[in-house]
Amino acid sequence: MSRQNPDIVRVSTGIRELDSALEGGIPKGSWVAITGEPGTGKSILCMHYAWAGVLGGDPVVYVTTEAEFRDVLKQAKMFGMDFESYRLHDISRGELPVETPDVVVIDLFGLLKIARQMTEQAQLDTEALKKKRYAALDIQTLIAAIHEAYRILGVLRDDKAKSPYRHVRLIIDSLSAFWADKPAMARKYSYDLKIATHRENVTAYLVSQYAMTTRSTFGFGLEHIADGVFHLWMEDVESTREVKRYMIIKKMRMTNHKRTAFKLEISPGKGIILSD
Ligand SMILES: Nc1ncnc2c1ncn2[C@@H]1O[C@H](COP(=O)(O)OP(=O)(O)OP(=O)(O)O)[C@@H](O)[C@H]1O
Ligand SMILES: [Mg+2]
Repeated sequence: MSRQNPDIVRVSTGIRELDSALEGGIPKGSWVAITGEPGTGKSILCMHYAWAGVLGGDPVVYVTTEAEFRDVLKQAKMFGMDFESYRLHDISRGELPVETPDVVVIDLFGLLKIARQMTEQAQLDTEALKKKRYAALDIQTLIAAIHEAYRILGVLRDDKAKSPYRHVRLIIDSLSAFWADKPAMARKYSYDLKIATHRENVTAYLVSQYAMTTRSTFGFGLEHIADGVFHLWMEDVESTREVKRYMIIKKMRMTNHKRTAFKLEISPGKGIILSD
């Protein structure tokens, strides 16, 4: 974290050019939506953000709905980010870690486990008229899983606390998976999540997959509640006959940010390289 303006603490994105374009980084406590079509580099952008966290000693909560976390590890390693040399704890594992982890991982198996626990809990609730069943991709399951991750990271003062007392990086790749079958709920779910988990000590990356045909509809709910938006895209491959990627900072609160697009390259061994 850097501190240019004494009132605003900046959180590094893990990419130097991007930090410079943001007056040092993302204002602490911001929610940043990462939007873009498939293959534009959203997930790799998240890896850089998490990696900056482990290097700088920020606890990381890493939610992935795309694949098993093992795949994230493999992909990150190709870019020189070896998360396995740090303490990782997968929430789907039964036992609690002996030492406080650097990264708490929540993949689909972790979400399934939390959903099962919540469903069992609901069965025990004698006053409820209807026993709710939770699915892995329910927004309430996600909220509970994130809370559990904060607990495991030891950033809550007690079991009732909701706000981490120290800074945490939260990554959700992707959030749109939680409303894939009900896109009209995007705005409400984004809002529910923000109300439940947004805290001044949590700086979040939230990935939203743009469907090429519907464009804004998938990202819509998220972009409105976000404090910042990084949008990634590629030129029409049929006309350019090559993959040409770009990224632009569409908004970032409290920041006089760069307003022109970066050229985005994904380089073996290095990851994302941004240039003018
Ligand atoms: N080792 C590597 N070297 C160079 N480029 C790579 C390497 N590994 C992956 N890539 C590039 O990164 C792309 C994937 O980027 P990423 O997973 O971040 O996309 P995404 O925006 O998250 O896509 P989706 O919406 O499908 O999840 C690949 O399609 C490939 O072009
Ligand atoms: Mg991805």
